[in-house]
Amino acid sequence: MSPSHPLLPHCRARARLVSLVIVALLVAGPVAHTGAAQDATPAPGASPAAGAGISSEPWGEVDGEQVSLFTLSNANGMEVKITNYGGIITSVVVPDRDGNLENVTLGFTTLDEYVEGHPYFGPITGRYANRIARGTFAIGDEKFYLALNNGPNTLHGGEKGFDKYVWAAEEVSGDGEVGVKLSRVSPDMEEGYPGNLDVEVTYTLTDNDEIRIDYHATTDEPTHVNLTNHAYWNLAGEGSGSIDGHELTLMASNYTPVDADLIPTGEIAPVAGTPFDFTTPHPIGERVREDFEQLVLGRGYDHNCVLDRQSPDDTTLIVAARVVEPESGRALEISTTEPGIQFYSGNFLDATEVGGAGMMYRQGDGFALETQHYPNSPNQPEFPSTLLEPDEEFNSTTTYAFSVS
Ligand code: GLA
Repeated sequence: MSPSHPLLPHCRARARLVSLVIVALLVAGPVAHTGAAQDATPAPGASPAAGAGISSEPWGEVDGEQVSLFTLSNANGMEVKITNYGGIITSVVVPDRDGNLENVTLGFTTLDEYVEGHPYFGPITGRYANRIARGTFAIGDEKFYLALNNGPNTLHGGEKGFDKYVWAAEEVSGDGEVGVKLSRVSPDMEEGYPGNLDVEVTYTLTDNDEIRIDYHATTDEPTHVNLTNHAYWNLAGEGSGSIDGHELTLMASNYTPVDADLIPTGEIAPVAGTPFDFTTPHPIGERVREDFEQLVLGRGYDHNCVLDRQSPDDTTLIVAARVVEPESGRALEISTTEPGIQFYSGNFLDATEVGGAGMMYRQGDGFALETQHYPNSPNQPEFPSTLLEPDEEFNSTTTYAFSVS
């Protein structure tokens, strides 16, 4: 391997991480392992355990602005890399049931690859995550026209969404957790959206092996906001092939069927008796090739699932999804304050991207679970509202908890 090989920094990082894990295990004993995550939680008031920390390195420049890559690590050896370019999570390294470490999120090792373009590997998507039909909506009597970037529609904020900006970044830390707070002001009429939107997104890694994302936004004019993170996961390790065998549970008894442009029709349909019923665990690949109209339209799963909540305005943090990869034993549980979750089975991955492990990504080599308000809500008065008024605050939290079984 030549010194300029793109994988070399990755290998070095991995070697450092292995030493870190060994030190953590020696210091904390066998309980400092993901499988015993609860036991490793420091008592309230305690400082982050040995091994937890944050570091940053220069990662290049975009539009004349410096970009950094932040590395968050916790007491159990879990390591998460995040860049302030688009708020992209570039790597999430977690152990399997035998302690083998792998990066389980799809992505690249260099900034240039992200800047060249990619199908939303790990960024913050906004100002409006997912689709707005015909790129238009009205607020009161006023109509707004957004940048169209997905056929006749707007997807993930438009041509230059939140995923393509350099955000201001600040390191933050608390008891048993470290994080990065990203912020930017999206100016009035950016991509056609009204109002100056002040946005903060904080990524935190906890000693409970959990990534928490807190979103906060305020506006000076009524506007529509829907923020999420678009990480793709493959719990066997990115670049390891199909996610068909991952067992998924979704706490959603209903979903929003779509038209041929993947815009919800407005119907809230029960999943019972359909391939969309993940209320009990099913391998993702078990029914994905069934000749079911909604699967055909989506080329697989690419649908908003309506989370089972007490009431439509309930915003408590609830478990939304659980995924287990049986071979490695790695498990991911996603909780959110949002009303919906887009389950996307990586249908448009088409071998044009080569990930950090040096392997190309083919259709279904990763999946995304995007916690969100429903697509096209600005044009669907029956859906939970995404309107943000100047006297209101947008607050949203999603957690990604990793474990092994
Ligand atoms: C979302 C959409 C998909 C696709 C991906 C990005 O998940 O619902 O249709 O556009 O983003 O490729």
